[in-house]
Amino acid sequence: MNESSSRVAVVTGGAMGIGAAIAARLAQDGWRVVVADRNVDGTAPPGGRYVVCDVGDEASVAALARSLDTGEQRLDALICNAGFMIRKPIADLALAEWSSVLTTNLTSTFLLVRATEALLRAANGAVVTIASSRARMSEPNTESYSASKGGLVALTHALAVSLGPEVRVNCISPGWIATKGPQPAAEEHAFHPAGRVGRSEDIAALAAFLVGPASGFITGAEFVVDGGVTRKMIYPE
Ligand SMILES: NC(=O)c1ccc[n+]([C@@H]2O[C@H](COP(=O)([O-])OP(=O)(O)OC[C@H]3O[C@@H](n4cnc5c(N)ncnc54)[C@H](O)[C@@H]3O)[C@@H](O)[C@H]2O)c1
Repeated sequence: MNESSSRVAVVTGGAMGIGAAIAARLAQDGWRVVVADRNVDGTAPPGGRYVVCDVGDEASVAALARSLDTGEQRLDALICNAGFMIRKPIADLALAEWSSVLTTNLTSTFLLVRATEALLRAANGAVVTIASSRARMSEPNTESYSASKGGLVALTHALAVSLGPEVRVNCISPGWIATKGPQPAAEEHAFHPAGRVGRSEDIAALAAFLVGPASGFITGAEFVVDGGVTRKMIYPE
């Protein structure tokens, strides 16, 4: 491991949204951040590096890992954040669409951890996966997304057991985090026991804690960050 450089983090899907906030937060905390995203127009925070990478593609992930082996020569944190949703009635959902969601949201973490295991072990590093409260609750027509996120929660504890004690692996399951699109209405904020919809920075703060030394006894855990919505009992009026 290259001891002279600052701690190195890879943040997937860091070109925008929650991933960009995690990348910015880690950079602020002194990390060198490698952003890996399939968007060709993205940027990394100051001091970092941007890599165009499709995290569901084995060759693309292998190229990312090679660039870490020859470049930074260390990896202290891997944030598996890239993900997307297809909303479609199951009757209309093509197998290719189902598979694309599973590949990006779930298989990618297998590919990324397998490709970087040696660097992570050498650094006594940490992995954070970004699942969703939809691992446990659903709206109609979201089967592939919910299945992928449920799988990611399970993959997280499996990895924690296999990679410990050198590497800790934890999961954040966000609820509604306002990133793009119209801002939530007042009643949508009020619906949350916390009094508001989430912000990307809420997730970034927890991710920063989970890759830092203060969380050394935490591994294989899932943290639901949803303003209390999954704890709120709802009956018809
Ligand atoms: N925003 C929310 O309310 C919310 C809630 C629960 C979970 N999540 C999860 O948080 C993560 C980030 O969500 P977001 O709202 O910031 O999404 P977003 O759409 O704003 O950003 C996702 C980023 O991931 C990248 N990406 C997508 N597929 C990729 C691939 N195959 N390879 C590399 N990069 C890829 C995109 O280019 C984009 O930059 C996702 O995993 C999402 O499922 C989001």
